[in-house]
Amino acid sequence: NPVYEFFGEHQAGITTPVQDHLHFASFDMMPRTDRDDLISLLQDWSYAAARMTQGLEVSASGAVNGPAEAPPDDTGEALGLPAAGLTLTIGFGPGLFENEDGDRYGIASRRPAGLERLPAFLGDDLDPQASHGDLCIQACADDPQVAVHAIRNLSRIAFGRARLRWSQLGFGKTSRTTATQATPRNLFGFKDGTANILADDAAALADHVWVAADDEPAWMTGGSYLVARKIAMLIETWDRVRLSEQDTIIGRDKGEGAPLSGGDEFTAPDFHGSEIDANSHVRLAHPEQNGGVRILRRGYNYVDGNNALGRLDAGLFFLSYQRDPAQFIALQRRLSTDRMNEYIRHVGSGIWAIPAGAAPGSYVGAELFA
Ligand code: HEM
Repeated sequence: NPVYEFFGEHQAGITTPVQDHLHFASFDMMPRTDRDDLISLLQDWSYAAARMTQGLEVSASGAVNGPAEAPPDDTGEALGLPAAGLTLTIGFGPGLFENEDGDRYGIASRRPAGLERLPAFLGDDLDPQASHGDLCIQACADDPQVAVHAIRNLSRIAFGRARLRWSQLGFGKTSRTTATQATPRNLFGFKDGTANILADDAAALADHVWVAADDEPAWMTGGSYLVARKIAMLIETWDRVRLSEQDTIIGRDKGEGAPLSGGDEFTAPDFHGSEIDANSHVRLAHPEQNGGVRILRRGYNYVDGNNALGRLDAGLFFLSYQRDPAQFIALQRRLSTDRMNEYIRHVGSGIWAIPAGAAPGSYVGAELFA
């Protein structure tokens, strides 16, 4: 039963060993809210998040120890459950800094230059009901009830200040962040996360994930940028593709996850021979093809039931952390000729600035209002 500290240099939930379940939530601020509302919301969220990640209820009186005449502070469904490795990672979307109503929170001048809605990519089929948002919370835990309890209670705490815009449940992590985690598989059946940036690779994290002190703006130092993409997978079509073709599309073999140029899962791929197709996913996404660009992936599988034709409404809820949104944009543009595109559709999209971790007693994002 791991317990991860909420306070710290960086927010938890980025390099934390990837937990089994996800509840991701996007929020919009309510009309007519002001700077004090936003600050108090972040303070209240941080207080409750710090408690829940310790396996505690949202407040001392919690679910059953408050007055019998009032609705309880905590909704109660996590009573008796351990922390289950819960992490809560809070982010700020572009709309928070300025929207139709102007600069309501007095932070427009502090918007990171790269924090803008992502450009349209070839093949995008975005659903506004699964895209964007002023704030986000990524809840990851080894028990889905713990993750859902956290989002439910944080939404409730936001009452009058922010409202849930959309949310997504995920299971079966599709990435690993430590070498001791076995590489999980996505719904195409392939190992996913083999070449990911790992928590112990301080140099790669400094180069590709954490915003550095000399990056702009200064309040983001120690933070990162989160991109979420809801990517539907055309499962039934994929399942009719022969195995050798599946391998070619990915550029790795399905069993071992080894590059088609040979070796085992962790052998570096060799793109100079002809074994790995020029438009395979792995080749196009590899740093060698992208001027050294890397990202930290932390996505989850999802299945949202099925459609009227009996096809699974399923895919990958892709989450990546990067020092600069330009890293994701470069990779996603490179993937425009990916052979995998025939089997996927990007249906949701969002981007958030993830500030550094809060100091004990403080709150996430305090530097933005300092
Ligand atoms: C690698 C699957 C979307 C970036 C991989 C691998 C698989 C995979 C099986 C090989 C194993 C590994 O190194 O993890 C998928 C599926 C996707 C998807 C099924 C969509 C449903 C994306 C997107 C991006 C991306 C949208 C970024 C824009 C990468 C990167 C690698 C990778 C950077 C590592 C390449 C390397 O360094 O060798 N992906 N991926 N993937 N993918 Fe994806």
